Amino acid sequence: MKKVLITGGAGYIASHTNIELLKGEHELVLIDNFINSSAEALERVQELSGRSITFIKVDLLDSAALDSVFVQHPTIDSVIHFAALKAVGESVEKPLDYYTNNITGSLNLYSAMKKHDVRKIVFSSSATVYGDPDEIPVKEDAPIRATNPYGHTKAMMEQILMDTAKAEDWSVALLRYFNPVGAHDSGQIGEDPNYPNNLLPFVSQVAAGIREKVVIFGDDWDTPDGTGVRDYIHVTDLAKAHVKSLEKLANSSGIHIYNIGTGRGYSVLEMVKAFSEACGHKIPYEIGPRREGDIAEVTGNPAKAKTELGWQAELGLNEMVESAWKWQSQNPHGYNS
Ligand code: UD1
Repeated sequence: MKKVLITGGAGYIASHTNIELLKGEHELVLIDNFINSSAEALERVQELSGRSITFIKVDLLDSAALDSVFVQHPTIDSVIHFAALKAVGESVEKPLDYYTNNITGSLNLYSAMKKHDVRKIVFSSSATVYGDPDEIPVKEDAPIRATNPYGHTKAMMEQILMDTAKAEDWSVALLRYFNPVGAHDSGQIGEDPNYPNNLLPFVSQVAAGIREKVVIFGDDWDTPDGTGVRDYIHVTDLAKAHVKSLEKLANSSGIHIYNIGTGRGYSVLEMVKAFSEACGHKIPYEIGPRREGDIAEVTGNPAKAKTELGWQAELGLNEMVESAWKWQSQNPHGYNS
């Protein structure tokens, strides 16, 4: 069994990835500081998988605690690095918090890996590094031009790994996620944000009656129905991309960069309509002003992941909204329900 260290191991994407990893020959050591996640997610991952996981509460800013994780688990073979702050608006207001948490935390992690001779890492990056790309679906070789502190931290964390892979002979996969949505098909694990900044968690809460209505951020964009278009990817498909990436890193060094999306876009109105059908009632919405920093449309070309990882998205819009609704309706207040 290969031992994998998962940072941010109790979070939304990590929980789903843990489930997929536990189906195979992986033993997991999870660390998290729980500022945006819940220990209940770990309990449910263990119940659903029928396997136990090692969990240690560690903040990546505490380099001594991080070091002791590697000392206690000398057979850690690779790392999946999810832990980061990720709210765009908050990053504009508190840039130093974002740079400290995301950059210093990552540097501590990479330094501990070097010290303990762990050279394989899958990094949770984001399509946000492309900013507003010239061509869509965007390819991995498009220019990096993030537009906010959160996006800058993702681009920097990527750059540090690229330089390190070259100098230290590491094996690195940078996964640029498009818009992760949906939940595990059991409805037992899903996204549980402190405040829903992203579209689908917000729509889910309106559908559940927790919020009054969805505000659509502009209907005058240069898109077919005037609302923003994004490449939504089911979190279970995204989770599987991490398993494929670890397989890839087992036998190839250097840097491997992949878009993880479907290549197909849906508008805000299409998402709201699909969600209404999944939950069986109308979702109230109104058209509001554009959100600062938004763009009209972005989708990713996932061809490279298909060729090199043998990965492609299998789940469509119905599975995304139906699983999101199953999670929301079974857990109206997330893990504290
Ligand atoms: C956001 C982040 C991005 C991050 C990504 C995935 C911003 C500016 N960008 O991208 O960095 O990588 O999430 O987590 O926050 N919308 C509404 N009403 C809402 C919420 C959203 O109309 O209440 C619209 C948006 O204008 C957009 C679409 O829904 O057209 C998707 O928005 P969102 O889920 O926030 O994702 P992104 O903006 O793509």
